[in-house]
Amino acid sequence: MAIKFVETALRDGHQSLMATRLTTKEILTVLPDLDKAGYYALEVWGGATFDASLRYLNEDPWERLRKIKANTKKTKLQMLFRGQNILGYKHYPDDIVEKFVEKSLENGIDIIRIFDALNDLRNLETSAKAIKKYGGHLQIALSYTTSPVHSIDYYVDLAKKAENMGADSLCIKDMSGILLPDVAYNLVKALKENIKIPINFHTHATSGLAPITYKKAIDAGVDIVDTALSPLSGGTSQVATEAIATLFENSANLDFKYLEKAKEILTKIKDKYIDNGILNPKALTPNPRILHSQIPGGMISNLLSQLKEQNSLDKYDEVLEEVPKVRKDLGYPPLVTPISQMVGTQAIMNILSKERYKLVPDEIKAYLKGHYGKAPGEIDPEFRKSIIGDAKVLESRPADNLKPQFENIKKRFSDIAKTDEDVLSLALFEPIAKKFLENRNDDEIIEFSLHTEGDNK
Ligand code: CO
Repeated sequence: MAIKFVETALRDGHQSLMATRLTTKEILTVLPDLDKAGYYALEVWGGATFDASLRYLNEDPWERLRKIKANTKKTKLQMLFRGQNILGYKHYPDDIVEKFVEKSLENGIDIIRIFDALNDLRNLETSAKAIKKYGGHLQIALSYTTSPVHSIDYYVDLAKKAENMGADSLCIKDMSGILLPDVAYNLVKALKENIKIPINFHTHATSGLAPITYKKAIDAGVDIVDTALSPLSGGTSQVATEAIATLFENSANLDFKYLEKAKEILTKIKDKYIDNGILNPKALTPNPRILHSQIPGGMISNLLSQLKEQNSLDKYDEVLEEVPKVRKDLGYPPLVTPISQMVGTQAIMNILSKERYKLVPDEIKAYLKGHYGKAPGEIDPEFRKSIIGDAKVLESRPADNLKPQFENIKKRFSDIAKTDEDVLSLALFEPIAKKFLENRNDDEIIEFSLHTEGDNK
């Protein structure tokens, strides 16, 4: 069986290494060769690309997607989003989630990977239904982490439920790069024995062990792998496409001639970002420590900057020891956005205030009230009570309580939102989308008057 490759350089690759700064223009220069190389799919959208386009590049993320689609003739396009959180950090109402799916597929996406930070599948119900309804390929990703509750049986059970929700494929999403090679082998084997849909493997090269993990996952029968073309691979990104393709040359249907061309183009672009300081070469150095601390790289840098702000860098080691304790108290959530930031902040507060849970951020209170979903493990009722008192704990799906919003936002911004896509940009990132759309309209008017001048000549 041929191994299918998903190229991640144009999403996870630049997101992991260079703060998601590739521009649409740069992406388009490398796209024709990637399109011809024989990939199963190109991951090009979702994650942080949407936010970064608006916030830093003054680009319309929807326009980027349409241009990518227009320049990709044969390869499927893939995106990633966080279920009910879509691309933001809170739960959105169902009507926004459904419209976002509809428009993502309409503008060119073929495969949508969804995941939930807590692996609470109720947070994926609405997006899963919408993806099926609008004809997309539904891939449900399981957020991988380690804890006493995250056993292989736990993942097998989740995978069966995902298959029953109508998933067309499953993804093992090891966002921190902590999945060990032998565990990957056993996990893939167990999943293969229990589900029929194809399995996609996603890890990060962070610890230095990832190439071995890929080898083991493929040996165990994984169907699809996520890799990044060499210039944007390694370190906190994925493993190099060309390396894994060579290791499995007989079963990888990739054309090295096109990989080589794409690599040359991407190398020049990468060099520019090293020179201007956006790509820090430190991100390319392996960090094996993560295998012991289990704390993802992004979270470490976040902790360090928060401690620095408080002039408390000397407390770094204590905070690092506090993180797993907070995580245990919260029922072992995977350390993925937005939970990782919440756990980090609580750990810092516990250490700096010299009394555990003397200070508790609102987000942690909301978490303990069930507003993010159900924790993977048990939470001690006494502990919960000590933080939220007798406040009601939500047992239902968190988004059940959210009222529809799309029409309201559309009405509120009728002056600047010309399309449903604009309304969605505003729903997700209101202040920056508003700024972008106001300026964009000015540009359009200037362009229009230039054309008129031309016509008059
Ligand atoms: Co990733």
